[in-house]
Amino acid sequence: MAIAARALDELPSWEAVRAHARELSGRTIRELFDADPARADALTFEAEGLLLDATRQRITPQTLELLVALAREAGLQERIAAMFGGEHVNVSEDRAALHVALRAPRGERVLTGGEDVVPDVHGVLDRMADLAERVRSGAWVGATGERIRTVVNIGIGGSYLGPEMAAIALAAQTPDDLELRFLSNVDGSDALRVMRGLDPAQTLVIVASKTFTTLETMTNAHTLRAWITGALGEEAVGRHMVALSTNAEGVAAFGIDPENMFGFWDWVGGRYSMDSAIGLSTMIAIGPAAFGELLAGFHAMDEHLRTAPLERNLPVLLGLLSVWNRNLLGHPTVAVLPYAQELARFPAYLQQLEMESNGKHVMLDGTPVRWETSPVLWGEPGTNGQHSFHQLLHQGTEIVPAELLAFTRPVQELGDHHDLLMANLLGQAEALAFGRSADELRALGSPEEQIAHRVCAGDRPSTILLVDGAIAPHALGRLVALYEHRALTEGVLWGIDSFDQWGVELGKVLAGTIADELTAATPPAPSHDPATNALVRRLRAARGRPV
Ligand code: F6P
Repeated sequence: MAIAARALDELPSWEAVRAHARELSGRTIRELFDADPARADALTFEAEGLLLDATRQRITPQTLELLVALAREAGLQERIAAMFGGEHVNVSEDRAALHVALRAPRGERVLTGGEDVVPDVHGVLDRMADLAERVRSGAWVGATGERIRTVVNIGIGGSYLGPEMAAIALAAQTPDDLELRFLSNVDGSDALRVMRGLDPAQTLVIVASKTFTTLETMTNAHTLRAWITGALGEEAVGRHMVALSTNAEGVAAFGIDPENMFGFWDWVGGRYSMDSAIGLSTMIAIGPAAFGELLAGFHAMDEHLRTAPLERNLPVLLGLLSVWNRNLLGHPTVAVLPYAQELARFPAYLQQLEMESNGKHVMLDGTPVRWETSPVLWGEPGTNGQHSFHQLLHQGTEIVPAELLAFTRPVQELGDHHDLLMANLLGQAEALAFGRSADELRALGSPEEQIAHRVCAGDRPSTILLVDGAIAPHALGRLVALYEHRALTEGVLWGIDSFDQWGVELGKVLAGTIADELTAATPPAPSHDPATNALVRRLRAARGRPV
């Protein structure tokens, strides 16, 4: 069945949602609290050990009813079913987006094109587990017989952000004598940083690239290959380099033994791939059993998405809140603020997931969208951000909806740190919502001449997402899947293809041409605008090349 999108502004409930938004825009969040004593209960949702507190959003229970109606009219349920059914929901690339199959338990059936993909998924997971165990136990040795002490993951975008985010999030579960390093940028400084102090004889390099053609990754892979072979000889590649890719030919051409390649499939998008073979560094770090827990966490959230009614479906609700804040209230950005240092790279991970998925300008049929799509997502861990950009959150002229994430317990007890962290999270959410009025400041004795500067108007929406327990693989899997499915929900409402990324292509093509011009032995014919041509000449001159 062909996948088609319905225009957001032509859905039957759209005008009712707009009228409701106009009505609410004149009421403060404080007024909404005062008007409904049951608000906290009505706007707090819980599932799979996650609590979603939407009470501080500028919404009422009726808002969610209207948004859920909109989601139904947009065909969200059908699209969820289509995704799980292996249909080509990635319309512009004519592919399935079947990341849910990556975490399907052994024996479950997930079909695309009439073929059950789960046996292949587990076949690769088994091979990954074998390698991970051998590296962890010391059975896998390098060319000189030494055990592996450092794993370097070379990759970019989806082949980097998820593995690095997970490595930081789950660092407590990684053996002390195993180090993970991540090499992403084509900037040589990054490669030099990664190689600094490392002994190639004790290093395993993972080249992670779905396409195995990405300029940054291939450049870095060749640099580290030369570093290894320079120290240990050509034969050492087989003991020190493995590949994660869908491009077996490219891997073979690079010189990595097919035995050392772990595959995945075109229905796994880069930003949806941290639980595929791309997760090999994660599996080596935490071990196959814990990686299984991570997958089980993903699967639990998949099942929640598939089976929970839309009214209580956490990723759906989060997606609808995005649409509300973006399209009805007009907020152009969203801040993700993890109150968990383990999630230090979660905002960066979500930037790709959200903005590469939903930063789109046309609908599925190629016609322009008439509404805003993805907000700009940004963020830093709390409490650090409080002493930097939170000033703008509290008193700036742009309203930034905030998402505050936290775990009920710390990974490791340390005095009162966790309680102080949680106190700050709650304090920020309270300050954003309710602010501090001039009268309150006067009552507290603030000098009159400072009152205007000190007033915090409040009325700034936020969501709290509280995860039961301490961060662990299962919880991380649930959290990532939650956001994957939020992106899906938003994309369906916006009528766009959340699974393609054509916008990144042009810059890649231009960089290829310019690279040739920068390095040519003779001055290239000017082929760009005058400003770019001038900079090409300047950069050539700076490198001593004729201009
Ligand atoms: O440039 C965008 C992109 O294609 C991402 O979607 C992807 O995650 C990244 O590049 C890396 O691609 P690959 O895994 O093929 O090297």
